[in-house]
Amino acid sequence: MDRQAQIDLLKRLLDYVDTKTTALAEAPWRNHVSVYTDPEHAERERQVLFRRYPLLMGFASQWRAPGAFRTDDYAGVPILVMRGEDGKLRAFLNVCRHRGAKVAPADGGMARVFVCPYHAWTYDLSGQVIGIPDEGCFPGVRSERTSLTRLPLCEKHGLVWVIPTPAGEDATEFDIDSWLGGLAPELASYRFGSWAFYDRRIVPESMNWKILVDTFHEGYHIGFLHRDSLTEVLHGNVADFEAFCLNHRLVMPRKKLERLKSEPEEKWDLMWNTTIIYALFPNTLLIVQGDHVELTRIFPSEGRVDRAIMDLALYVPKAPSTDEERTHWDRNMQLVLDVVTGEDFPAGRTIQIGLTSGAQTHLVYGRNEPGMIHYHQSMRAVLGHPEAHAASEAAE
Ligand code: FES
Ligand SMILES: [Fe+2]
Repeated sequence: MDRQAQIDLLKRLLDYVDTKTTALAEAPWRNHVSVYTDPEHAERERQVLFRRYPLLMGFASQWRAPGAFRTDDYAGVPILVMRGEDGKLRAFLNVCRHRGAKVAPADGGMARVFVCPYHAWTYDLSGQVIGIPDEGCFPGVRSERTSLTRLPLCEKHGLVWVIPTPAGEDATEFDIDSWLGGLAPELASYRFGSWAFYDRRIVPESMNWKILVDTFHEGYHIGFLHRDSLTEVLHGNVADFEAFCLNHRLVMPRKKLERLKSEPEEKWDLMWNTTIIYALFPNTLLIVQGDHVELTRIFPSEGRVDRAIMDLALYVPKAPSTDEERTHWDRNMQLVLDVVTGEDFPAGRTIQIGLTSGAQTHLVYGRNEPGMIHYHQSMRAVLGHPEAHAASEAAE
């Protein structure tokens, strides 16, 4: 965001706080309960959102050197992302070309080659098959399966995205900018390429994955659900909202924003006075929290409509070198866990029970929840309306 846009945004936030208002959608919007409860709809989400859309895998600094690799099954297929000897980052299905075992171990690390644990077929850092034990028993096989199956990958703005469906050898790259709907220059301005990974937590949950996502789409609940944890830091029910195609950005003012009134504009700092939430369709929240970033990736899990998993990672501008710095970042990680897993998710579990109860056919998002409305209208634009429940639509 350029300097003038930052100042304008901070002025809008000061005005919202002074006049006790917020960015508003044109009208409330009613969403059908079945988008959170219908197993067929959930299957469609898995096939469309988690196969055809770019999913943010992490900051590029997680793969700093040749040989660095990470694996990840959350999208529903096993994904391996690794940096080759040539410095190029590539994504593959983590599936042996012999009989399908995983060739790279869980999570990640550094490797020189990958040896499949089953029969020791061996792959180099560009995914090529470089060894087949007793190859004489496989006449003609190597030429038809020369490498792991590539997935389209984009490394840009210090971030890495993968589309989890093979698209052929001539479609192993794509440009994320066309998916970002105008957010690219803003993301580039943070220079995430030099940031460091600090810590990660994997949190399984018993609710629809979108209830976890929804947690980050509005500040309406801050003054109530988080009255003991966040109200000293953040204003509740105040946010600036802007849509970027299927994505959006919410900016929430911190309480210290008021101080800007007595400071010259040239000293105003957007990051220090706000929480900036980039909602990257369909499942990622990139949250700029003053001095660090929380990257939250949320997935459906176990093939169920009411199971989800959150991959929460903390990234910092520079790797810590002292205990004091580590303590600072540990405290930040604990704070987000206390708020999200200690307050948001317990409420979310009750929402799943409530939505499944048959109490109502629709839930409603208010004018003060434009992020919710935009996100769920985007989902509907991509997935359509859950057909199975169309007949009961007229009821409410
Ligand atoms: S399944 Fe990998 S070598 Fe056999
Ligand atoms: Fe919350």
